[in-house]
Amino acid sequence: MTSVAEIRKTFLEYFKRQGHEIVRSSPLVPQNDPTLMFANSGMVQFKNVFTGQEKRSYTRATTAQKCVRAGGKHNDLENVGYTARHLTFFEMLGNFSFGDYFKSDAIPFAWELLTKDFGLDPKRLCVTVYHDDDEAAAIWKKITGFGDDKIIRIPTMDNFWMMGDTGPCGPCSEIFFDHGDKIAGGPPGSPDQDGDRYVEIWNNVFMQFESLPDGTRTKLPKPSIDTGMGLERMATVLQGKHDVFSIDLLRISSAPKSL
Ligand code: ALA
Repeated sequence: MTSVAEIRKTFLEYFKRQGHEIVRSSPLVPQNDPTLMFANSGMVQFKNVFTGQEKRSYTRATTAQKCVRAGGKHNDLENVGYTARHLTFFEMLGNFSFGDYFKSDAIPFAWELLTKDFGLDPKRLCVTVYHDDDEAAAIWKKITGFGDDKIIRIPTMDNFWMMGDTGPCGPCSEIFFDHGDKIAGGPPGSPDQDGDRYVEIWNNVFMQFESLPDGTRTKLPKPSIDTGMGLERMATVLQGKHDVFSIDLLRISSAPKSL
């Protein structure tokens, strides 16, 4: 069985081989950011790097970030306990490019890691792109050979990711795993998309804008990449479960015997 610890290591080491700096998770409570109560994704600690206000010694980074989505723009709280995939606390695995590579590298990285290193069957995967993102759709088509039925164009804000009301944002491409027809639910964009059959395992955001407090958007200094894979969701898939509460990290039988 592939443990949560092995998945985290495989992800970070894959991106280290691709020239990324492994950066520690930031604390759950963001430092110096009054717009968020808790880190809601891996990009939060890099917000000022995306906007060009802060420079780091690297332009590629990878992290396993502690996250809580219990309020604000990304609030999963109402779903916890009702779906097989939402948690209060979770870890987000991410790779980031600060004006370095863009879509034509990010998409092949994601595909190689999922299908080679993690060994997922391409038949169980499908992807979404923002409805007018012909470039991302063409890259997916080239590397996967998928038809239009598996490269689904989504016209809603589900495929335009924003950190919050303000901050970096951009169109995104999500990768879904199909748990099979024993689980209720339909592909993304269908009326049954909220079921647990098709689960989003990884989101690749093509960061290009910053939302400002007055509601306008400016361009980031350079197109950038922000991704987030749900560690516990990936463990669900790789451990042959469909329910996140059954993974090695969370199942009752992994608790110490004294409990
Ligand atoms: N920041 C993006 C997300 O949380 C990757 O989905």
